[in-house]
Amino acid sequence: MKNDAVHSGLSDVTRPFSNASTLPSPCFTSPEWYQKEVEKIFLKEWICVGREEQAPKAGDFFRFDIVNEPLVLVRDRSGKLHAHIAVCRHRAALLAQGKGNCRTFVCPYHSWTYALSGELIATPGATDPMAGIDNFDRKDYGLVSLRLETWRGFIFISFDEKPQPLLEWLGDLPDQVKNYKIEEMRVDRQFEWDIDCNWKVYYENSAENYHTATVHYRNLKGSTPAPSQFPESKGPYTSFFLPKAISALEGFPTLTSLTDAQMSGTWFILVQPNLQLILTPTYMVFRHFLPLGPERVKVVHNWCFPKSTVDLPDFSERVEGEYYTRYKPVIQEDVDMTPLVQQGHRSRFARPGRFAKEEVVLHHIENYVAGKVGAS
Ligand code: FES
Ligand SMILES: [Fe+2]
Repeated sequence: MKNDAVHSGLSDVTRPFSNASTLPSPCFTSPEWYQKEVEKIFLKEWICVGREEQAPKAGDFFRFDIVNEPLVLVRDRSGKLHAHIAVCRHRAALLAQGKGNCRTFVCPYHSWTYALSGELIATPGATDPMAGIDNFDRKDYGLVSLRLETWRGFIFISFDEKPQPLLEWLGDLPDQVKNYKIEEMRVDRQFEWDIDCNWKVYYENSAENYHTATVHYRNLKGSTPAPSQFPESKGPYTSFFLPKAISALEGFPTLTSLTDAQMSGTWFILVQPNLQLILTPTYMVFRHFLPLGPERVKVVHNWCFPKSTVDLPDFSERVEGEYYTRYKPVIQEDVDMTPLVQQGHRSRFARPGRFAKEEVVLHHIENYVAGKVGAS
């Protein structure tokens, strides 16, 4: 990474919108830059990892990786959710894979056994394998656990030991979106993609409607994009509202709690650093982005509907055709496009670009990244 070029590029990002340039390409490709993002952003901020209804019963767990950390999320017998580092305290074997339901976590290497809440409860062996080992107290060898808080069904974790309380951190977002009854939404289906691009490439693609007329020409033709509106935000998020809905108005019953303006369009909210909410009159999509390396990201696309909609007798049969089958090719177009952007960033001749009028949210995001990482 040529540090001078990146350094002067960062100050161009921070200029007022109409005069600003985009982040230099090394910020999308360099392992050193990525390491700084991990340290300054992902190991510090609240990170969304899913919704409570994805682990509804005691013993339900799911495993995932983010920034090279293997995590397991689990609900204990008292109903409390935990986020543990899924690494055995004996000799570091991975404790769990995939998702499922269990009574305890038993290490696949030597069977050390952990309670769902993380305590080490057994070190099995024919004779007590830890007898006579000095200064070994099981109490000291429980799983490493992260801070976890929930908001209206969303699960957030923090690697930081003393993060700001989640609700305080969210700023005015809870109030701004209260009409959408997010707490009543239920995840019905999850689609995942591991994509060969930097996490910001996909996150930024989700942050503008400008590409719709080109990338989604075939699948969304007939829905002429209207100019986006950019609501004010006081918190760790930025958003755009499409006053003409692309896909919001057909299908299932509309929420009755929305204003006329909210009824007429779709609201795209980017909660920094890894969550996107898409709020419409009939459903909510949330995507969370799990960086897997400088040039690889897992995108998890979660379809949610109000519980009253999910309970409709014909829900399962209609949702497939009216929503999932219909929009899957649209998402695939973004999944196909974003690695091509990544390839472009790898060129030694790539230069910072300029923001188009529709890309106000991108400017906010890049300023956020430049502010967090560039200050070091
Ligand atoms: S590494 Fe887990 S029991 Fe040995
Ligand atoms: Fe798109």
